[in-house]
Amino acid sequence: MAASCYVTTPIYYVNDVPHIGHAYTTITVDFVARFRRLCGQATLSVTGTDEHGEKVYKAAADAGEGPQEFCDRISQRFRDAWTALGIGNDDFIRTTDARHKRVVAHILEAVQAAGDVYYDEYDGLYCVGCERFMTDRDLVDGRCRDHHTVPEQRREGNYFFRMEKYRPWLNDHIRANPSFIRPDGYRNEVLSMLGDSIGDLSISRPRERVPWGIPLPWDGDHVTYVWFDALINYVAAIGYPDGELFARFWPAAQHFIGKDILKAHAVFWPTMLKAAGIQTYQHLNVGGFLMGSDGRKMSKSLGNVVDPFALSGRYGADAVRYYLLKETVYGQDSAVGEGSLVERYNADLANDLGNLLARVRALLLRHLDGVLPAPVAHADDVPVRDCGAGLAGVVESLVTDLKFHAALEEVMQFVRQLNRYFNDQEPWVLARDVGRRERLGTVLYNVVEGLRIASVLLEPALPNKGPEIRRGLGLGDYTVAQASEWGLSEPGTAIPAEAPQLFPRIDEVPAAAGALAETARAAPQEKEVTSVSKLISIDDFGRIDLRVAEVIGAEPVPKTDKLLKLKLRVGEEERTVVAGLAEHYRPHQLVGKRVVVVANLQPAVLRGVESQGMILAADDGAGGLVVISPETEVESGAKIQ
Ligand code: MSP
Repeated sequence: MAASCYVTTPIYYVNDVPHIGHAYTTITVDFVARFRRLCGQATLSVTGTDEHGEKVYKAAADAGEGPQEFCDRISQRFRDAWTALGIGNDDFIRTTDARHKRVVAHILEAVQAAGDVYYDEYDGLYCVGCERFMTDRDLVDGRCRDHHTVPEQRREGNYFFRMEKYRPWLNDHIRANPSFIRPDGYRNEVLSMLGDSIGDLSISRPRERVPWGIPLPWDGDHVTYVWFDALINYVAAIGYPDGELFARFWPAAQHFIGKDILKAHAVFWPTMLKAAGIQTYQHLNVGGFLMGSDGRKMSKSLGNVVDPFALSGRYGADAVRYYLLKETVYGQDSAVGEGSLVERYNADLANDLGNLLARVRALLLRHLDGVLPAPVAHADDVPVRDCGAGLAGVVESLVTDLKFHAALEEVMQFVRQLNRYFNDQEPWVLARDVGRRERLGTVLYNVVEGLRIASVLLEPALPNKGPEIRRGLGLGDYTVAQASEWGLSEPGTAIPAEAPQLFPRIDEVPAAAGALAETARAAPQEKEVTSVSKLISIDDFGRIDLRVAEVIGAEPVPKTDKLLKLKLRVGEEERTVVAGLAEHYRPHQLVGKRVVVVANLQPAVLRGVESQGMILAADDGAGGLVVISPETEVESGAKIQ
């Protein structure tokens, strides 16, 4: 493991307010930074705003504000957005910061001193959206492939950087360092760009046309081209040339970007560094796009974005972070929407994780005086222990390989294994027999220990809820190394009597979200994907714990017309379930019946009564409900499969 780690996001243009595309890269970087910190690595994460150039200058004018005032206002919105999403960046750099401007001037002078700058007339097609001259590769039917606009013909005097001179070096560097650009598809894309001339890079704009920029040190009539200016933020933020952070962190620099800014990072930036005599960065990690319901990249100008701040207001920052990391495959485009966020949240966080936490806490408080017991080794527990102890290693190598969704899936598979263990060991049955106290204690200890490990490994995605899971079990904080050791939850730990419900189930999705949920719907060729995504896997079905139960009591819930409070016997356990059956059954008609209950549903309080499950009923097609019963009499508690 490298001693240090420096991770960066792109710095965001302030002509737009923060949206989910920006949030995605920022969350990814924050996830990696938090993971590395938990691994004990010295880690630095930096984000910021890109504030110069034509595009920003125009946006300020359109808003009727001076450029600096406008940049201050929008830059602050980015800072606020990151606070709301639980981003723990160490620094926030702005290209209008004096520390940044100084370094830009320094590097320009170094490149000029190396003889790599000359003046010439430029004649070409310019896309203001991209803030660069276009080549044939950048155009589709004469339009910019990203902005769908026709570029402007421009002819002007510019200073040029001899980028082409460094093409052979860059080619060799990429071939000799297979992990320099990741994933591989993007590396190949860059190698193919380098197969042809890359030309020289225009690095200035006449000040009279673009007054909002950093003046060239040797010619005040020209300002620095916005990309040449912006890329330098990565070294300016850590105090290039002689800052201590630069010496320590630059060799371990990893940039995270979206695929639209690949060329600037993979071609402009390494050649600029080379010309300035600076060692190049370690990794360029390239993410795909989040796609909207129209099958196109989400962007404000296309009007197909989901607002991450509205989402985090509704479901919490942790839910949004978890969803974006789990639902996307890093490097590939992924469709996202509010409906699928809610599905993912309910299945993983509310059901698998939150429900297990609530159940183990309830049994510890009810039967073991809220004290974590000492476990006693038992053969049944070996698979859970082994999987728990091996999990951190697996997760760490997936994070290193940028497989963030797979890393989270590993943890959730372990949580599902814990749920199965809990259900198979039936601790509520053990609790009835004083002779089996020791076994009860061991089973509950193992579930707590498993949740401790899972909560540490989920913490980079769930920076608030990860620690809260442990607080609910009376536990503190741990490193990744401590998550790879089984048995660090201290017997004797007191379980707090009160703990907030961490992931309450979301039953209502706002109407507008329905359209976003089926993000593939608008693209006809993806229709099949939509219908397949509605199917569940056998594993999904296996997560529902269906049992036969006997109704041993029934009474109306006071002040309601529809609800009955049922007492059920599920094996040896008694449960209360509130069911909407009062209009279909009189209480006495249900007593003695065998019914089917969803036994691992998160408890919910209905009209002041805690409902610990749900019984299944069929619609009779005439507005009535008929409860489902086994055809012949089966033992209560029998598993339905
Ligand atoms: N200012 C430049 C970056 C300079 S870095 C030295 C810039 N800014 S941006 O605000 O336009 O975009 C920043 C990042 O957001 C890019 O990596 C871009 O890919 C990403 N995203 C914007 N919309 C996106 C999606 N819909 N999906 C994923 N990321 C996208 O470019």
